[in-house]
Amino acid sequence: MSNPLPHTPLRLGIAGLGTVGASVINILHGKADVLAAELGRVITVAAVCAREPGKDRGLDLGNAFWFADPVEMAQSSEIDVFVELMGGAGNPAKAAVEAALNAGKSVITANKALLAAHGQSLAALAESKNVALLYEASAAGGIPVIKILREALAGNAVTKVSGILNGTCNYMLTRMEIENLDFATCLSEAQRLGYAEADPTADIGGFDTANKIAILTSLAFGTKIDVDAIYIEGIASITSLDIKMTDELGYRIKLLGVAERTPAGIEQRVHPTMVPKTSPLAQVMGVTNAVTIDADAVGQLTLIGPGAGGDATASAVIGDIAEVAKGLTGPVFRLPSTQLERAPRAAMQRHEGGYYVRLNVHDKKGAFAAIAARMAQMNISLESILQKGNKNTTKGTGLAIVSVPVILITHATTEAAIREALENISSDGVLDGSPQVIRIERG
Ligand SMILES: NC(=O)c1ccc[n+]([C@@H]2O[C@H](COP(=O)([O-])OP(=O)(O)OC[C@H]3O[C@@H](n4cnc5c(N)ncnc54)[C@H](OP(=O)(O)O)[C@@H]3O)[C@@H](O)[C@H]2O)c1
Repeated sequence: MSNPLPHTPLRLGIAGLGTVGASVINILHGKADVLAAELGRVITVAAVCAREPGKDRGLDLGNAFWFADPVEMAQSSEIDVFVELMGGAGNPAKAAVEAALNAGKSVITANKALLAAHGQSLAALAESKNVALLYEASAAGGIPVIKILREALAGNAVTKVSGILNGTCNYMLTRMEIENLDFATCLSEAQRLGYAEADPTADIGGFDTANKIAILTSLAFGTKIDVDAIYIEGIASITSLDIKMTDELGYRIKLLGVAERTPAGIEQRVHPTMVPKTSPLAQVMGVTNAVTIDADAVGQLTLIGPGAGGDATASAVIGDIAEVAKGLTGPVFRLPSTQLERAPRAAMQRHEGGYYVRLNVHDKKGAFAAIAARMAQMNISLESILQKGNKNTTKGTGLAIVSVPVILITHATTEAAIREALENISSDGVLDGSPQVIRIERG
């Protein structure tokens, strides 16, 4: 004999019926019985909201109330939980989330832009109302990294979080490597196939990854979210020669978001990074995401999975719904918002690590010696020097300049030293164009 379900249904109001919202509704309908059994409570979609009321979405919305205004829905007595799946750092997402929290309703969102910009104040509001603000889908999509950092790693001192957090960039870097494509061709291919947006700036410029690493930094270190502290460099400067050379050297290039505790403070950075081919992150190809966490008790663990897509993202949203259904609340980030510290910010100039430097060096006597001398002047020791690729000829107003691509791999040094050495080399007049610099993560 089955017991009657003890609780009243949990009534959701879902704002946003696009890729993620539609998948959430389909999974909730398809798995209604399983979820009710697992949670001891029926989950209902009591209200929905989107921009276009008449649009055929192929969704069974049952008897759900339709709201044209997400703020109105957030305050409605018809719902217990507000699920924000519209996107955007500003209104209506912000106003609606605030309205729901002020009305004492728990909120679930997939919105990294909102969290990165307003996470602190929204967390304070949720905690003051003793309701949940959950956002598992906001970083690394279907990978439950937020629950791992906030709950499963309780008591661990996290030292570093590094991740492939943008599927578009990883897809492009993978295709550039496998098919030997240049960046522009690869981007237009990715746009044609729907893997990159018409305006790809947020993805390829590293800004989407920055929003995600901002959230993960707060969870890892118990610090306030600080997007302005993040050093951001996108992938647009990566050439097929860089991909080929890193491959020959035993590395792969990935756009990483990194948050790391260092003696100089907490580094937050997003940039193309050479990772050893043997590392877990190097194995992650295509649109897949991955996060590696280093912590004192657990050591190192890597989570790999889908970072986007309707069903995978909905999986994370439904995990949050389950948490609310079970009545779990707690600090929104690792610590209560009043206890989150301002992250001691480590200047990028103090970053230490190995570097890949590609220079187009004038094909003339003394050029190599000048470069080696400038590196030595900054105490930079070189692990290897490679001269690969074809000679380039640049025709200016005067004589044609012939240059050759030269790749330097350094031992560990500082960002300040490498920048100064390269400025000096450029001022010596032995280079054609600007140097390419890619940071190496060896550990
Ligand atoms: N797609 C993914 O794979 C993915 C992965 C992780 C996280 N996310 C996050 O999930 C959220 C939703 O993404 P999505 O891909 O599902 O977006 P989407 O497909 O563009 O859908 C957005 C939905 O929000 C509705 N909407 C937009 N502005 C609105 C407004 N002013 N008032 C009412 N409704 C409004 C739209 O209504 P109409 O349908 O009527 O236009 C649409 O239904 C975003 O925060 C995104 O960053 C997405």
